[in-house]
Amino acid sequence: MTSAFSPRRILVTGGCGFIGSNFVRWVVREQPGVHMTVLDKLTYAGNPENIAGLPADRVELVVGDICDAALVNRLVERADAVVHFAAESHNDNSIADPEPFVRTNVNGTYALIEACRKYDVRYHHVSTDEVYGDLALDDPARFTEETPYRPSSPYSSTKAASDMLVRAWVRTYGLRATISNCSNNYGPYQHVEKFIPRQITNILCGMRPVLYGDGRNVRDWIHVDDHSSALWEVLTCGRIGETYLVGADGERSNIEVLRAILHVMGRPEDEFDRVRDRPGHDRRYAIDPTKIRRELGWWPVHTDFEAGLAETIPWYRDNEPWWRPAKEETEAKYATQA
Ligand code: NAD
Ligand code: DAU
Repeated sequence: MTSAFSPRRILVTGGCGFIGSNFVRWVVREQPGVHMTVLDKLTYAGNPENIAGLPADRVELVVGDICDAALVNRLVERADAVVHFAAESHNDNSIADPEPFVRTNVNGTYALIEACRKYDVRYHHVSTDEVYGDLALDDPARFTEETPYRPSSPYSSTKAASDMLVRAWVRTYGLRATISNCSNNYGPYQHVEKFIPRQITNILCGMRPVLYGDGRNVRDWIHVDDHSSALWEVLTCGRIGETYLVGADGERSNIEVLRAILHVMGRPEDEFDRVRDRPGHDRRYAIDPTKIRRELGWWPVHTDFEAGLAETIPWYRDNEPWWRPAKEETEAKYATQA
């Protein structure tokens, strides 16, 4: 699509996390002339290595908290757009301790939209399909922009709360904002706490993969680069005040995904452990991406999930120094949550 808005200086929050860093890399590759300031607190999930080696005249890192209103104001004042990824993002952690989720996901979003209101800066809010709750396995429906909010976990309820703040700021104050709700991402630089990297790195460490419950829960997988291209379309061509659902028709059960990983890695298909289910575990997510395709002409490129997975696995094999320090810490945390 032709761009209606051409940002030159973007403030990217959470740009040292999984999706934020892939977005920064994507913009450096695909959008010449755009400068990004990454604001990241570098929590356990943020790693400056994720954006290391990018040109200094394109990407600047500021280590700080999105809840720090004075800092946020200073950075927003010199930006022409904000793309907000920073969040506490892991469901299991939110069940163990919801407090940081309320703080970062709700109060942090509040600080950002207040600053964008003050300086009249374009704001894009990166959200999740989990705000819509879950679907039954046999439900023919998928989530659309009209599906009522019905979040289940402390994580998804704080994301839903942040979406609601943005909608209210659009209507009440005329904030120039859009929201996107995307499905499960996979690709390089994803923290080893998440399903796909956890299983790949377990196998690489000689440990057995770990499947929650009956393994029939369904997630709708999208390659992180397709999420980045969708975000760019929404930021530059999306209609102010609108929500866009982002998905790539990638529904798979967890057990199917795990067996695909075992297959690519040359392990027997039953070489995994079943463990206690996640409390309140959402059964199925599924995105109907009709609106973003029709209105913005966006289409995913990585449409073959098994091929995308087969490309992702070698990235973890080749980048052990990147994930190794987090692995022990993550498994120790899981052991306390079991
Ligand atoms: P992540 O956990 O990998 O990264 C989060 C980043 O935010 C980290 O770099 C962390 O240091 C930073 N951060 C956390 N608290 C902060 C604070 N108070 N101030 C500044 N920085 C802070 O998360 P992710 O998987 O990359 O997700 C990014 C965004 O995309 C989140 O808003 C998430 O809700 C949303 N999302 C994720 C998925 C997915 O599949 N992972 C799908 C849809 C939407
Ligand atoms: O749908 C978008 C959401 O996807 C994002 O908003 C979240 O930030 C992101 O973390 C992800 O949430 P999930 O809870 O779906 O992702 P997770 O990787 O934690 O788990 C995926 C599925 O795999 C889920 O059904 C739980 C299951 N699981 C997870 C882990 C870590 C296992 O069976 N074993 C595991 O070890």
